[in-house]
Amino acid sequence: MYRLSARLGVGQCLAFLLSVLSVNAGVDYEPALPPSYPLAVRNPYLSTWIPGNVVENLPTSTPQFWTGQDLTWSIIGRVDGKAYSLMGVSNSGDATVPAQVQKAEYTTTHSLFTLSAGPVKFTLDFLSPVSPSNYLRQSLPFSYLTVSVSSPGSHDIQVYSDIGDEWTGSMDTDRNFTTQETTSVFTLFAENVATYTEVNDMALWGEVVFASKPSISSKLSAFSGPAGRARSDFAQHGTFTAQQSQWNPGEVVALSHDLGRVTGSRSVNFAVGYVREKAINYLGTPYTGYYRSKYPTTAEAVSYFLDDYVGALGESTELDSKVSAKATAVAGQNYSDIVTLSVRQAYAGIDLTIPYDTLDTSDPLAFIKEISSDGNVNTVDIIMPAFPIYYVMDPDYIRLLLEPVMRYMAAGRWHLPYVIHDIGSSYPNATGHDDQLAEPMPIEETGNLMVLTYAYTKATGDTRWAAQYTGMLQKYADYLVHNSINIANQLSSNDAAGPLPNETNLAIKAAVGLKAFGKLSGLTNYSDVGDEHAKIFYTDKLGTDPKKTHFVLEYPDMPSTWKTPYNLYPDVLLDLETFPKSAYAMGSKFFQTVRGEYGVALDNRQDWAKSDWNMWLAGTFDTTTRDQFVDDLWAFMTNGLNTWPFSDRYISTSDQGNKPGLGVLCKARPTVGGHLALLALEGPGSISLSTLSSRSSSNGDAETLNAEGLKAEDL
Ligand SMILES: *[C@@H]1O[C@H](CO)[C@@H](O)[C@H](O)[C@H]1NC(C)=O
Ligand SMILES: *[C@@H]1O[C@H](CO)[C@@H](O)[C@H](O)[C@H]1NC(C)=O
Ligand SMILES: *[C@@H]1O[C@H](CO)[C@@H](O)[C@H](O)[C@H]1NC(C)=O
Ligand SMILES: *[C@@H]1O[C@H](CO)[C@@H](O)[C@H](O)[C@H]1NC(C)=O
Ligand SMILES: *[C@@H]1O[C@H](CO)[C@@H](O)[C@H](O)[C@H]1NC(C)=O
Repeated sequence: MYRLSARLGVGQCLAFLLSVLSVNAGVDYEPALPPSYPLAVRNPYLSTWIPGNVVENLPTSTPQFWTGQDLTWSIIGRVDGKAYSLMGVSNSGDATVPAQVQKAEYTTTHSLFTLSAGPVKFTLDFLSPVSPSNYLRQSLPFSYLTVSVSSPGSHDIQVYSDIGDEWTGSMDTDRNFTTQETTSVFTLFAENVATYTEVNDMALWGEVVFASKPSISSKLSAFSGPAGRARSDFAQHGTFTAQQSQWNPGEVVALSHDLGRVTGSRSVNFAVGYVREKAINYLGTPYTGYYRSKYPTTAEAVSYFLDDYVGALGESTELDSKVSAKATAVAGQNYSDIVTLSVRQAYAGIDLTIPYDTLDTSDPLAFIKEISSDGNVNTVDIIMPAFPIYYVMDPDYIRLLLEPVMRYMAAGRWHLPYVIHDIGSSYPNATGHDDQLAEPMPIEETGNLMVLTYAYTKATGDTRWAAQYTGMLQKYADYLVHNSINIANQLSSNDAAGPLPNETNLAIKAAVGLKAFGKLSGLTNYSDVGDEHAKIFYTDKLGTDPKKTHFVLEYPDMPSTWKTPYNLYPDVLLDLETFPKSAYAMGSKFFQTVRGEYGVALDNRQDWAKSDWNMWLAGTFDTTTRDQFVDDLWAFMTNGLNTWPFSDRYISTSDQGNKPGLGVLCKARPTVGGHLALLALEGPGSISLSTLSSRSSSNGDAETLNAEGLKAEDL
């Protein structure tokens, strides 16, 4: 500030400051400014975001893949012959002028940006549907961009968007163009790549899809070529004057709508997506998206996706209002802000699939990627932290995600006496660990499987699924019976914290897991062992300090250590009554005493917190301490220091000299499903979309949804 005023006169300085301030003076962030906005976020390979801190300059800012690499995606609006950049035009030259960002908003399923462009307003609405119970809609690997114009007088309007071939992950690319009825479909794909290969976490196999269809009285044009030429042609003419040229890597595919004269509001839709025909390799058998049973080609699928817009929009609106209303009712506005930002990210860890060869819709399986930590497939301790969101929205996903793991273990291919960590080191290769070399987390994964299987059964009332595996589960329960008091040196889910022997939180997990297995199987002798363990660790104080103020990190005789005992949460959620209420009450007091600037760290050794586990633990507290945990996470989420997709691991305290409030390593992980832990306490399915769910009639849903869609339109 001093240097600035020394070099500029006072008046100049003031003018300069005012011009800087005016850039963001008008931006209204609703409900808050998040680290990053989801734009097209639907599966591990369709995960496009824009950092919150560049949104005030949206017209010149570039979206990113979740890992941070830039993805060309531009949007331009043309008003009476003048072109305004709305998003992603970094080298506009003098062909376009940036529109003014007025408002940025996120809901559970939408990110919306409102910009003023001369006499009109444009709204960019990025809708990534979340529709767990509608397998067709959920599995379509596309996302909507709706560009709306609101024109008070009568103005001549055209709308343009393009994407670049960075979306393929390759620099050796080609493109294709096809039409499906009135839908224009571009695809972009990498050349000379093997199936199931990744680079920088992007899929190399498969194809990027960019499509649109004319709306009533809009004229759709398509062009591919150099970005500068496509954009300036549109800026000058409002359409493309050239024919499709030869493709050269590094170019863009572009689509534009001429809406003609508009008075009032009009909108056009684009679809972006990423199709992998062979999506997952499950033990040597290819699996494909569930939607391909009905729409076997990409052009048919994306054309249907655009046709499904009214139904998808209606459902998304219903979901958005249900989620925010319920979350606010449960734990306030801050909690709602956290939950609504988490939902798309949580479901975008998942691919919902069927066998590629048979397209048998009676055999759906879900696969989840351990995004950003190691890319493992169906990691049991990823399904575990995320499970509150499945419990709330559609508990069947617990089964869909566990079934590939259960089948692999039941086939006898996993020989160790405890539950496997994951079924493949690198997504999308769910090829198992016949070498028995999965990351060892014996008590962690074995306890998790007991809890998850019981949670599914309790939430759905379906006892048959677990019954097929009772023998196997009992063998694993026996492992807990014999190995969960004198616990060998081992990792827990938080492997970054290193292994420990006798970790109290694992002993708690085992006790709760045994109780869960006892309930599941009706074998009360297992429940008895769970209760005995709870008595040893809590009542008899092996797992607490002598004054019983808190659970210790490790035992015996480590009274000053502590760790967040989040494994108590399923005890509360599933009414297992393994531990007495006083065991939870102790935490409500203790965790106020070890709270850092951004809340409570994982344990006394760390300066970082896990947001998912903290929301679990908050579910065991009284409301005062619970609300502190919520507010601390909200403070991290909105502190303006972060630009990654919601990080579930961050520095919570300056105690070890690090700057608090910064994310650590973890980005875009589906574990943020654990943020719904407080909502899950309202009961299973508390935010399911019953009116639109169509799980059983897997192939009859299009009709039902169209009917719903029409109703929505009529209103
Ligand atoms: C390009 O699209 C045409 C349909 O227009 C299709 O027949 C052809 O297989 C596609 N080529 C590639 C490489 O995808
Ligand atoms: C999956 O397996 C295939 C075939 O072995 C291999 O080429 C590919 O690189 C693997 N993918 C990943 C992400 O490791
Ligand atoms: C773990 O705890 C058990 C039971 O208190 C004890 O016998 C054993 O020595 C402990 N192990 C270690 C490595 O401290
Ligand atoms: C529980 O009882 C069942 C049935 O009698 C028996 O098979 C099992 O071994 C017992 N397990 C334990 C831990 O006592
Ligand atoms: C939200 O959290 C912030 C930061 O902890 C706090 O200052 C604020 O009062 C909370 N807002 C509400 C509505 O509880």
